[in-house]
Amino acid sequence: MRFLITGGAGFIGSAVCRRLAGDPANFVVNLDKLTYAGNLASLRSVDNLPNYAFVQADICDGETVSAAMRNYDIDIVMHLAAESHVDRSIDGPGAFIQTNIVGTFQMLNAARGYFESLTGEKRDRFRFHHISTDEVFGDLPFDSGIFTEETPYQPSSPYSASKASSDHLVRAWHETYGLPVVLSNCSNNYGPFHFPEKLIPLVILNALDERELPVYGKGENVRDWLYVDDHAAALQLVATKGVAGESYNIGGNAERRNIDVVSGICAILDKKRPRANGASYADLIRMVTDRPGHDRRYAIDASKIRRDLGWTPSQTFETGLEATIDWYLNNEWWWGPIRKEQGYERLGSLKASGPAK
Ligand SMILES: NC(=O)c1ccc[n+]([C@@H]2O[C@H](COP(=O)([O-])OP(=O)(O)OC[C@H]3O[C@@H](n4cnc5c(N)ncnc54)[C@H](O)[C@@H]3O)[C@@H](O)[C@H]2O)c1
Repeated sequence: MRFLITGGAGFIGSAVCRRLAGDPANFVVNLDKLTYAGNLASLRSVDNLPNYAFVQADICDGETVSAAMRNYDIDIVMHLAAESHVDRSIDGPGAFIQTNIVGTFQMLNAARGYFESLTGEKRDRFRFHHISTDEVFGDLPFDSGIFTEETPYQPSSPYSASKASSDHLVRAWHETYGLPVVLSNCSNNYGPFHFPEKLIPLVILNALDERELPVYGKGENVRDWLYVDDHAAALQLVATKGVAGESYNIGGNAERRNIDVVSGICAILDKKRPRANGASYADLIRMVTDRPGHDRRYAIDASKIRRDLGWTPSQTFETGLEATIDWYLNNEWWWGPIRKEQGYERLGSLKASGPAK
């Protein structure tokens, strides 16, 4: 199979590229603009392989996207490129509208033109896989409810609204133009190569630096966590075996309150890298003013992908979190330069957060 991965220099996209390019039977083209979130260092293990190519381009540039599909004779497009940080979408929604909505429109247009040029088996094989989030479904109460593929969309943030818009466009291109699309909506990912503005890497690295560990509100918001390599495995199944027109929810059945995630990281670090003063890293936790429009809880029912495509995650939250912490302890070559350049704040939340009242 010949894959075009957009956003392949990002957190999840790089896991997908590493997984697919690890099999010599695949050819992988990574198309990425290299925004602040894109990092070619995440692809160090594959960038010399003969079955991997990199194209630096903006998905809003339809001509270049079309040329990549044609020139590399693509079978499957996996569209991950996006602006992905909710806090940044609150401070500056424009880039989210541009990349996540207009960019997806350009991707769909290019894919439609390319698909219409295909014949025979090549045409039967073609898929446009749109990678989306559970945040499109909106807010769940703390004590009940779970997102299925039929849950109505009710996004709360500029980020989730932009992803919801792009999901609707993808379905419309299927219904209107017959483009063979598949969609997947996944819960929060964590794992190696995660940009240190997101909760788990931010907390690990702030702790190692003896800095405050910011937690929104009372820390009661619940997210359903999935190890990134388990997501990459699920995405490969959806892209290659998913039924055209269908969507698949992906989640690790690992609901945790934010405060418990942060406390869990502190407990593991207390054992693996005790503080010089003998205190617990938990003493560094600081509650900060809640994010506006902060959804209380997300929870995914992943029974469809388990049943129809035979996917099961390999990590529990506990094993995945320990593996993630080990990775950050051993890979300063990757995160050190980013921390130096970006600073130590939870980036993009500067207007939204402050000391807890
Ligand atoms: N991170 C999560 O927990 C999560 C969960 C569910 C779904 N998703 C979705 O998965 C996808 C990937 O998320 P991520 O966390 O890896 O994001 P990321 O921010 O780590 O990476 C995004 C990548 O897209 C690239 N990019 C951004 N704008 C671009 C443009 N205009 N043209 C080309 N490339 C561009 C960036 O350079 C970067 O490499 C997104 O679509 C996101 O909505 C993420």
